[in-house]
Amino acid sequence: MNDWEPGTGNGEPSTGNREPETGNRDSASVRLLFVNAAQVVTCAGPGRARRGREMDDAGIVTGVAVAVVDDEIEAVGPTAELERTYAHAERVDCSGLVLTPGLVDSHTHAIFGKPRFEEQELRGSGLDYMEIARRGGGIHSSVRDLRGRTEADLFDLAVPRLRRLAAHGVTTVEVKSGYGLTPEDELKSLRVIQRLGECLPMRLVPTWLGAHEIPLEYRDAPEGRSEYVRLLVSTMLPGVASGRLARFADVFCEPGVFTIDEARTILTAARSAGLGLKLHADELRPSGGAELAAELGATSADHLAAISESGIRVLAASHTVATLLPGTMLFLGKEKQAPARALVDAGAAVALATDFNPGTSPTTNFPLIMTLGVSQLRLTVAETMIAATVNGAAALSLADRVGQIAPGFSADLALFDATDVRELPYWYGDARCVATWVRGRACHHHPVESL
Ligand code: NIG
Ligand code: FE
Repeated sequence: MNDWEPGTGNGEPSTGNREPETGNRDSASVRLLFVNAAQVVTCAGPGRARRGREMDDAGIVTGVAVAVVDDEIEAVGPTAELERTYAHAERVDCSGLVLTPGLVDSHTHAIFGKPRFEEQELRGSGLDYMEIARRGGGIHSSVRDLRGRTEADLFDLAVPRLRRLAAHGVTTVEVKSGYGLTPEDELKSLRVIQRLGECLPMRLVPTWLGAHEIPLEYRDAPEGRSEYVRLLVSTMLPGVASGRLARFADVFCEPGVFTIDEARTILTAARSAGLGLKLHADELRPSGGAELAAELGATSADHLAAISESGIRVLAASHTVATLLPGTMLFLGKEKQAPARALVDAGAAVALATDFNPGTSPTTNFPLIMTLGVSQLRLTVAETMIAATVNGAAALSLADRVGQIAPGFSADLALFDATDVRELPYWYGDARCVATWVRGRACHHHPVESL
């Protein structure tokens, strides 16, 4: 059973109706008391990004209950004590499972039309990702496809994709535009994200990625590149900002796509228009993307598989979150992953995300990304949990209210079929999430399947 209607559904599905609202907090407006979890992975601590050694503590506690009042967590404490204080709350029996903060997927390209499975075999036969793009495939192929689709069509395609993310424990999702690359098609994509945010229970964070590629119609003209950058800054950005359609702006800064100088121009304008900044940086070749992100005070620098030594140092000394996307390197068949260990050891704040998109990372399985976090990035399980919660929230400027099971934080929770948090990355590729709640409301639920 899934409950996707906004404003309906509440606690764990088997526990019946909530108490009527009488205004008495102790007996009525308390809605949920989560009890009997084998472990509660609180990730509790300061409401900001965790850096370096701070990441290695996921705040795992046992024998505690979690009280939710309206849309917030009100208390985390000894079960017997909370059972007394919240005697009239609806009990959610977590029967020996692991309760975590809802996962925060801070980097997706979930608004696209057709999938691009034909490119996977092409890459297998030796054709590189950038070479496919040079031949008019890759992002260009998704752009051609999206431009021919209506908002209703894109909405209908995105709903089951976002539901799959929720089914894997994700309660907050950043969603980028970036397959339109005209003012109309970028605004169309952002309006779809807005409507999805209104209709689905998950928290969606919209990002404008008009600078995802130089569209083919601008690539061939002599002044095409600079004309497209002008279009981005002078036409697209004002439309996005005045419609309040995006929280962040992002640029694919990579040799062959946008240069460092072009990215600086676009992001500086976006910052003046009131948007937060993100950057696809040093994904395939080192080009100073991490340094640019730090220089501009970007909220996050994403990918970083090819970050330089100096990039690591600069990022670690900045407030920019290093968002790593190991699923992308795996799917592209690259041998090298981002230097997560070096980043954390240098004192950086590292987040993990799916990069869900039709070209380089067509997965919604966030726990699988956590598997890669441990097995390929060599993060500890605790670091992986923080990267998937607190630091994902920090990569969206939400760390003061999202990503922790702690008083005052949004009641965004995920329940996993496991008795130990280490099982989340261990059962790799599995679907262990049995339920999620967003702002105290049931978001996703499916029955526990026995092994
Ligand atoms: O994050 N690198 C740029 N953008 C996406 C891929 C987009 C695509 O190939 O459709 C990424 O990997
Ligand atoms: Fe991406």
